[in-house]
Amino acid sequence: MAGITEELTCIGSDLPSILPITRNILRLNDGEIISFWAGGYELTSVEDGEIIKRNPEIVEDTMEAAQKGGYSHFMLKEIHEQSKVAGELLNMLDSSPDLEPFISKIKEARDIYLIACGTSYHAGLLGSVYFNKFAGRAAIPVLAPQFTAQYGSSVGPEDVGIFISQSGETKDVLNAIATAKKQGMGILGLVNVVGSTLTLVSEYHLPLVCGYEISVPATKTYTNQVLALLYTALRCGEKETSELNKIPDLMDLTLKAAEGQLGPIVGKLSGWDDLYILGYGLTYPVALEGALKFKEITYAHCEGMLSTEFKHGPLSAVYDGYPVIFTVGPEDIPLIISGINEVTCRGGHVIAIGFEDSRLEANAQQTITIPEIDISDELKPAVLALLSVIPLQLLSYNCSLDREFDPDFPRNLSKTLTVD
Ligand code: F6R
Repeated sequence: MAGITEELTCIGSDLPSILPITRNILRLNDGEIISFWAGGYELTSVEDGEIIKRNPEIVEDTMEAAQKGGYSHFMLKEIHEQSKVAGELLNMLDSSPDLEPFISKIKEARDIYLIACGTSYHAGLLGSVYFNKFAGRAAIPVLAPQFTAQYGSSVGPEDVGIFISQSGETKDVLNAIATAKKQGMGILGLVNVVGSTLTLVSEYHLPLVCGYEISVPATKTYTNQVLALLYTALRCGEKETSELNKIPDLMDLTLKAAEGQLGPIVGKLSGWDDLYILGYGLTYPVALEGALKFKEITYAHCEGMLSTEFKHGPLSAVYDGYPVIFTVGPEDIPLIISGINEVTCRGGHVIAIGFEDSRLEANAQQTITIPEIDISDELKPAVLALLSVIPLQLLSYNCSLDREFDPDFPRNLSKTLTVD
């Protein structure tokens, strides 16, 4: 679009870049060429070179509204941007100069560590399942502040750490890097903010290409971290990656399907300040991430857990109506049904998230169905795990609004944690 004033004409890719200069905006459509000079412009059609007559409009939006692009919150906008940035990541990975050395370092390493905090750690946890499944390699996920205590004296130059961070400035992550450096370990980065400390200290890094993530709860950077790890694991296992190009469309379909199903579930969870989200295998990290999102923006206690661990203690929390959400992979349904029954026979209320399945419908009180996906059997459960977080992000967002909180800026938290 173009900003037009009497003294200058400026061009920008979005409204926020032009609003500080002028509110007099000319929006450009596909197939139009603008020629411009100080204080003037001419629009022509690409097709026939004809001049197009269109006057600028006065835009009333505030800067904040313009940045939200019509969405009520940054979080909702960023949830909706996931498919677009996933497509951009896949394009970038295919052409990144750092990609081949990044993959070689991992392949040649004695041990691989995935090191991060919070949501980025959950991406690393899912990445470790991908490395095991597709590359036959153990990649050890570790919370960054525990890295020194658990592995600080054992790692050496033969090992590599993949440090995962949206901001690239998280102090807990930088502390772990200091240990890794001291031990001579290889340092790779998976990071969104280009120019951040993590990009500078990594031998090689892959950018997440998500653009700005303004909402404090991470959404699009999480899904791109997971996608980058899935891609890397496949490459390390010398497997085809072309099917991943279907993922952006699948994300949109999942989001659309979730939007239509969440109403009654938000209604059920209204007023509950205590619940669990359970997952197993590939969906275990999804359960942890869903629970983190939920507690972060609803202020309720929501614990993510391996579903099979629930019977080892937490089951005692269940009473009439107590909500327990299960994220279900297609390979795990019989095992999960047994976990569901342990909850429902104590009066608990189960919500199951997964592909449509009559067994889940018969045993859970409510379901969120992810549309069936056209992808090879080998990749399907891995892609489902990536997609399953989307309904949980949206559920947390809607439950936050239901409680009249601001999901973008939850109390006590900040986007970048540069303190110990
Ligand atoms: C939760 C969230 C945090 C961050 C964590 C690490 O929604 O965003 O848990 O994931 O603080 O931040 P980065 O990825 O910047 O290192």
